[in-house]
Amino acid sequence: MRRAGAFILGTGRALPSRVLTNQDLERMVETSDEWITQRTGIKERRVVAEGESNSGLATAAARKALSKAGVSPEELDLIIVATLTPDYLMPSVAILVQEALGARRAGAFDLSATCSGFLYGLSVADKFVREDPSRKILVIGSEVLSNKTNWEDRTTCVLFGDGAGAAVVTGSPDGRRGVLSAHLRADGSLWHLLTLKGCGSLYPPGDPRLPREDYFIRMQGREVFKQAVRAMESVAFEALEANGLSPSDLTLLIPHQANIRIIEFLRERLELPAEKVFVNIHKYGNTSAASIPIALDEALEEGRLKEGDLVLMVSFGGGFTWAAVLLRW
Ligand code: COA
Repeated sequence: MRRAGAFILGTGRALPSRVLTNQDLERMVETSDEWITQRTGIKERRVVAEGESNSGLATAAARKALSKAGVSPEELDLIIVATLTPDYLMPSVAILVQEALGARRAGAFDLSATCSGFLYGLSVADKFVREDPSRKILVIGSEVLSNKTNWEDRTTCVLFGDGAGAAVVTGSPDGRRGVLSAHLRADGSLWHLLTLKGCGSLYPPGDPRLPREDYFIRMQGREVFKQAVRAMESVAFEALEANGLSPSDLTLLIPHQANIRIIEFLRERLELPAEKVFVNIHKYGNTSAASIPIALDEALEEGRLKEGDLVLMVSFGGGFTWAAVLLRW
């Protein structure tokens, strides 16, 4: 068995209070609660209201995680925020969180790996604490996708939601509990299947070469679906095999919450009973980098993990990126 690295001291989540239901969407585009529920498993999602922001959600989730961890902001060595929807391109969300928390000693940066961002971030933190186990690192996944959603496009607008989840990590207390291994994967050959083009440096605002739709998330859903199921299955088995484990050793699978059918496919391939798979997609939709830390926080609150349990977190997102982190709780 590998020596464990990053140990999670505490988690937290923050969701905007505004709820957008499938019935609300029925009044906005040509869709139905039945279609959305059957094809995605989503019943409602949260969206920011006036005054709410990515950095605000990230900070709120971080405060809860720090409080549960019993760690003060001054003790933090590093803040990593995984996001694809920062408040600004400069400064980063991580810097805004550092300032809001008063985490004076901490370095801070954003990490861009779409829906796999939190697991990529956790893997970076794992490396830092393997080098010095006394370090304390805040890893956050936070998104405001509603401002990057084309509310006239029924093929995407029903899918996404806003929110943030956070974890405070340090070195393993005993080499047994914590991250056993992290597996990061990417394939840029199909990047064009899932894009958000109109916010970078290639096309300045108002550039006539870029259609209005490209200022929002665009996706060829069916193709993305196929890639997601293949990639998530393969990286899940890779993580288990690297540790000499099989799916039946798992207490809990926390998959990225993009589509209930993708989650169900993964559950079947791993031959796991439903109670071993955490699902909250019906409440929040796809919150990209925030989905896994929000789910982890809820799973802990529901008492789904106890000391020594094995949890596998698996993600997939635009790029494509995908990842798995195997952790002994
Ligand atoms: N309401 C009603 N009908 C809709 C609809 C909506 N919101 N969105 C699409 N449709 C229609 C389509 O126009 C299509 O109609 P047609 O057959 O007349 O052309 C039909 O439903 C089927 O569309 P299709 O895209 O094949 O549906 P699907 O079963 O693949 O489901 C997604 C669409 C987006 C839910 C699904 O492909 C998906 O979840 N993809 C992966 C998403 C994902 O994981 N993305 C992020 C990775 S992090």
